[in-house]
Parts: sequence; C-alpha cells; structure tokens
Amino acid sequence: MAYQKCINCGSEYGIDEIVYFCRKCGDILEIRYAQGELAEALKDPEWRNAPLSVWRYRKFMPISDLTKLVSLNEGGTGFHLCERLAKQLGLRELYVKNEGENPTGSFKDRGMTVGVTKAVELGVQSVICASTGNTSASLAAYAAKAGLQCAVLIPSGKIAYGKLSQAMIYGAKVIQVRGNFDQALDVVLKISEKHRSIYLLNSINPFRIEGQKSLGYEICDQLNQEAPDRIIVPVGNAGNISAIWKGFSEFHELGVVEALPKMTGIQAAGAAPIAQAIKNGKDTIVPVAAPETVATAIRIGAPVSWKKAMNAIRDSHGTAETVTDEEILSAQKLLARVEGLFVEPASASSIAGLIKLVKNGVVDRDERVVCVTTGHGLKDPDTAVKMSEKPVEVDAELSAIEEALGLKKQVEIVAR
Ligand code: F0G
Repeated sequence: MAYQKCINCGSEYGIDEIVYFCRKCGDILEIRYAQGELAEALKDPEWRNAPLSVWRYRKFMPISDLTKLVSLNEGGTGFHLCERLAKQLGLRELYVKNEGENPTGSFKDRGMTVGVTKAVELGVQSVICASTGNTSASLAAYAAKAGLQCAVLIPSGKIAYGKLSQAMIYGAKVIQVRGNFDQALDVVLKISEKHRSIYLLNSINPFRIEGQKSLGYEICDQLNQEAPDRIIVPVGNAGNISAIWKGFSEFHELGVVEALPKMTGIQAAGAAPIAQAIKNGKDTIVPVAAPETVATAIRIGAPVSWKKAMNAIRDSHGTAETVTDEEILSAQKLLARVEGLFVEPASASSIAGLIKLVKNGVVDRDERVVCVTTGHGLKDPDTAVKMSEKPVEVDAELSAIEEALGLKKQVEIVAR
C-alpha cells in the first residue's frame, strides 16, 4: 500500500487523506510505497509489453481503482536523436525528449492524468490550480474528461495565448489574478485549505509528481534501460525535475538501471532562486519578489518544490544554471531550424542551458545528454512570430514571386 510521507520530518499520512502540507512541520509530501511493492510491480511482465505511455507504469502508481482512469493518452512522447544540433555544439550524443507531444501540449498531462484519477477516486467534485498556463490547460482538459468542475487562477496578462485559449475552451472557470504566479498559488492554497471540497492540483499535490515520474521511467526505457549521463530540465515551480529524479531513483533501486543521470536544472535569469542557491552553495533559496522573463511558463520566484529539486540536483551530482531571455529565444530558434522541433520559450531554456554549460566546460563533450523540452511551440505563437523574419507580401503574379524567391536574376541570365 502506498502512503504519503513528509520530506522533512518523515510524518506519514494515508493514501486517501487530503493533505497538502505536513501537519507537524509544514513541509511538502511525497508518495512512498510499502517495502517490496514496486519490486512486485516490476516482476509482472505485463508492463514491459505495453506501449510507452504513463499507464504502462500503472503498477508503479498509487492508484488502486484502475476502472476510474482519466486518460487522454499521455506520455510515450518522442525521444529525438539530435545529430545536427549535437554536431553544431560539438557533443557526442544528444536527445530531446519532447513533451510538447502530450495531449494538451505539455508534460503536465503526465501528472494530471494521475492527479485527476485520484480526484475521481476520492470522490471530489471540483478541482483548482494556480498556473503560468500549462497546468491550467491540462487540468481544464482532464477535469472536462472526468466531468469535474474546474477553476484556474492565472497571472493576468502574463500567460501565453495558446494556453489561455485551452483553459477557456475546455470550460474551466478562468480567473485572472492581478499579481504573479506566486501570489496566485498563495491564494489557491488558502482556498483549498478553507474549502476542503475543492481539490488542489498544483504540483505540491504528490499524486501529480507520481504521474510525472513516468518521464524518468520513459527516458530510461527509450535508452533500453540505460541512464544518460545528464538530463537537463527547465525549472519553474520545481516539480518536474524532482519527479524525473524520483522515477530514475526508483528504477535504480529496483535494479532496472545501473547508473543515474546528473540532474541539471535551468532557470531564467530573472526568476532563478534555485540556480542561485546551487551556485552559491546555499541550503535554502531566497525567493525572487518580482520574477521576470519572456519564458512566462517559468516566471516563478518562490518555487514550492525547491527542496525536492535541490535534493535531486545535489544527490545526483548535477548542477543548475541561469539563461537570459536572449539566450532562450536564440535556442528556441536554433532547435526549430536545425532539428525541426518547435518548443515554447521555457522549454528552450534546457537547450540554452546546454549551450552555456558546454561552452563553460561543465558539460563534457563526451556526455550523452537528454534535454527535456516541456511544452509545444504553438502554446506561445506571439513570441514565435515576434522573433522571426516577417513574411513578405506580394501580388499573385509569377514575376513577383520569382523576385521574392530570388529567382528573377537567374531567369534573366538564362533568357539572354
Ligand atoms: N516548462 C514549461 C513549459 C512549464 O509550463 C513549466 C511549469 C515548467 C517548464 C517548469 O516546470 O514547475 O515543474 O519546475 N509550468 C507551471 C504551470 C508552473 O503552471 O503551467 P516545474
């Protein structure tokens, strides 16, 4: 039987208890499994034959009633060998794990399928989250699928258009908060404590993290049960890097994989409390009061899972780095143009981070690296249009098109 455990004082809570913070010390919780439970799951050969997806690992998830699964077919995302980009960077082997290929276009779907399934198991009727965009899109979709009421709080004017359109069309109650994500999360925590019937599905909810750990399992399986040397992940509220590490650690403990990857977190320079703490050798973060970055998905100053993330980075002998908006946008363009992968700015921070870490010698050119790209490029069409060359506009005439294509001169030379 799985249970919930405080990451600080070790207090334990039942798997069906609705509790977001430890009642003793106030720290956050994680899901643990009874001795031997995951080893039993591993023995069952069924999962190895199932197609790659979050629910391939259902026996490794804390869900007891599999008839209640709320799924839109998440996980099983592309694991792209990026030979052209690797060559440009002088790197031996580079993969992009492209989470934009999930049903609502981001990695959040992995956590939401498990979180909303848990909500249904618990019999709750309404769900809520604060979000920089992707969580709200994902929760709205899974709530719709499950027939639950859904409310999402987003920072007014600071979420990308694609994400806003998703939350709206899936029928969530969309509340724009005059303030940033951290303030919206603060309010949503108070709401879910005060109104116990509303179930909170931010990544503080450990069931979300359990779904997202499948990203670690999948990378391992896509490398035929090998670990890459390093996994580079964009970091915002810090749930994802913690989840990937949990997945790898569990597979490592079970003997599925021999080695462990160095977890490497990338934050935007204007919203980088974790990267700063790691760089300065500190044990705690100093929250950023007014976070700012073009990568609105990771515009977060007080990451709720900072401790889990710092443990993941330190335990794996990884590191953290910051990247500027300019570096993020240039990496986004590069990935699109060299590998045909269009990812949103926050996602491109993993590529920007890799470029920086190769340049400064932290990443060895011999390493096998996996960059996680967390959300689809179409989430934020405005930024993509703004930073690309404007299309030319011409009349629908042969000569005008020839001129636009630079064919005019050649034609004239041939004619002569
Ligand atoms: N990349 C994208 C595209 C995201 O949307 C997020 C987080 C992250 C990276 C960072 O992941 O928070 O687990 O460290 N987006 C959240 C949201 C905060 O509300 O959609 P993290």
